[in-house]
Amino acid sequence: MKSKFEELKKTFEATLADLKDGVDLEEIKNKFLGRKGHLALLMKEMAELADDERKEIGKFANVIKSGMEAGFAKAEAARRVSQVFEGEWLDVTEPIFPAEGRGHLHPITQITEELEDLFASMGFMVLDGPELESDFYNFTALNIPPTHPARDMQDSFYIKGHPDQVMRTQTSPVQVRAMQKYGAPIRVIVPGRCFRNEATDARHEHTFYQLEGLMVDKDINLGHMKGVLEEVAKHLFGPAAKTRLRPKFYPFVEPGMRGEVTCFLCQGQGCRVCKKTGWLEVLGAGLVHPTVLKEGGVDPEKYQGFAFGFGLSRLAMLKYAIDDARLMQGGDERFLKQF
Ligand code: PHE
Repeated sequence: MKSKFEELKKTFEATLADLKDGVDLEEIKNKFLGRKGHLALLMKEMAELADDERKEIGKFANVIKSGMEAGFAKAEAARRVSQVFEGEWLDVTEPIFPAEGRGHLHPITQITEELEDLFASMGFMVLDGPELESDFYNFTALNIPPTHPARDMQDSFYIKGHPDQVMRTQTSPVQVRAMQKYGAPIRVIVPGRCFRNEATDARHEHTFYQLEGLMVDKDINLGHMKGVLEEVAKHLFGPAAKTRLRPKFYPFVEPGMRGEVTCFLCQGQGCRVCKKTGWLEVLGAGLVHPTVLKEGGVDPEKYQGFAFGFGLSRLAMLKYAIDDARLMQGGDERFLKQF
């Protein structure tokens, strides 16, 4: 009798081990463990045994039964796992971003690269400078000594515990760095990120971009500067764009001026954007102050130069008609996708 039970268990286990994918597990369960299944029939046969024997075989049969049930539960679990994996099959070689989700250059980067190409065609080299700058290069070397009121024009981020370090408020410190490194004559532009402690609004950001320019040579005058700036304005805003220079104070140039271009929106007629003037301010400029030339190791008796600083963020806003400076650093895809 015992061997019959053992035989049955073996057959059952073999059946489970050899399961084909499509086979219904419930059917197998009924066939072996159901009320009229093989095991039940075998147990019925025990009725004919003598009392003692029935007791012993009964115990044995129960062990066989729970063994078979455990085997079935295991097979059921395995089937479930394989179904889950089948549903979630993963192709690890599949690209996860659809093609239209690919990014492109930020509008500031686009305009920077465009200007780098233009200036390179006029013989300017492109330089970089540190964003964490010394107080000396950011101010003092630019003819703005400590306690000079002009420092108030650029409220700055200083570094705790390092009173001589400042997040640069302008790209102008690279004027002096460039002259120290390369001497005169020199033609250089410096696109880069600047920082000021601004209360941000639609026209002001604490983080923004400038493009500095410096040209030092013999007999340089304002006419050279105006020629270069006009070239830039026409390149960015079309052949009809006009420029004008008006006096403005910057400690590191003499004379100093602000450069304006005809308003892109009203073509100089006067509108809301240009506050009815027809002109928009896009840069600070002037002839390099002798003190600054000296800081750069250049003899002001032999050389003159002009310098300018475009507000790159402002230029990009004008070129692409962006009405809020904060969008530039916002990282909002809906904004960026438009360029
Ligand atoms: N650095 C000045 C600013 O940030 C702009 C400027 C650059 C003015 C070069 C004159 C010459 O406002």
